[in-house]
Amino acid sequence: MRRLLWIPLLLLLGTALAACEDDQPRTSPDSAYQAPEPTTVPAAAPAPDRGQTLYNTWRCAGCHGEQAQGQVGGALAGTTLPFEQFVQAVRQTRPPKPAFSTAELTDGDVRDIYAWVTSLPASAEVAAAVQLGPGEVLGMSVWTQSGCDACHGAFAQGSPYAPALVETDLSLDDFLAALRRDVTTIPEHGPDAISDEWAARLYRWLVAGASITGGC
Ligand code: HEC
Ligand code: HEC
Repeated sequence: MRRLLWIPLLLLLGTALAACEDDQPRTSPDSAYQAPEPTTVPAAAPAPDRGQTLYNTWRCAGCHGEQAQGQVGGALAGTTLPFEQFVQAVRQTRPPKPAFSTAELTDGDVRDIYAWVTSLPASAEVAAAVQLGPGEVLGMSVWTQSGCDACHGAFAQGSPYAPALVETDLSLDDFLAALRRDVTTIPEHGPDAISDEWAARLYRWLVAGASITGGC
């Protein structure tokens, strides 16, 4: 519910930031993850091949398996979800699944991904679960549960609203100080939303490249 209240503010923030950050790249120049440029004009007809490429570049494969047979996320191959619900699921955060905004994937992009996964036969073969160290949790779970993906991009690559955080150059102290700088406008930056301990764990995960199957 609170997220909904934030939407108008987010849009305002986005406009303000877009105005002063016009010539800054929207995506981070990191080697670990370079978000592809979204296309604005959807292809004339659903293009499953293009969908497969997008599926890989946007790292759906890392969680749903190379052939969409399921892993961290359920199987998408041969999904019976209607397209509207499929798009909705793509747009929503479902920890550890990040939300993908229209700045990341247009509806046309999602339609191509949908065209590809629905062209695949449903498979019973599910990839092995992710192994984490003792006491570790999936970094993506902390990232998405804390709502950071909504502004900083699905994989912390940056968005029109907020800077990239993957492979940040900040020291841990500077990271925490920057996080707490303005908790009135951005309540998700506040200690009620994320404790210092979890922010520090998230920091380690970000510095290590924000791997979608990595723990923290
Ligand atoms: C960090 C892991 C992760 C990434 C990356 C990810 N997903 Fe998911 N996805 C999940 C999880 C977990 C769920 C929810 C549980 C489930 O459906 O198994 C989910 C659910 C979904 C659903 C709803 C499925 C249903 O039957 O309700 C769709 C559709 C989906 N993801 C599509 C995508 C697409 C497309 C991408 C890439 C653009 C993507 N996901 C990237 C983990 C991920
Ligand atoms: C409502 C949008 C929004 C959400 C949600 C959000 N941020 Fe931010 N974040 C921003 C904006 C805008 C900035 C840049 C302005 C600022 O630093 O206040 C920023 C800046 C930061 C910075 C400083 C980066 C730098 O280089 O100075 C850190 C660190 C940060 N965010 C971490 C997080 C973490 C961790 C989360 C999740 C717990 C999160 N943010 C959630 C909008 C958001």
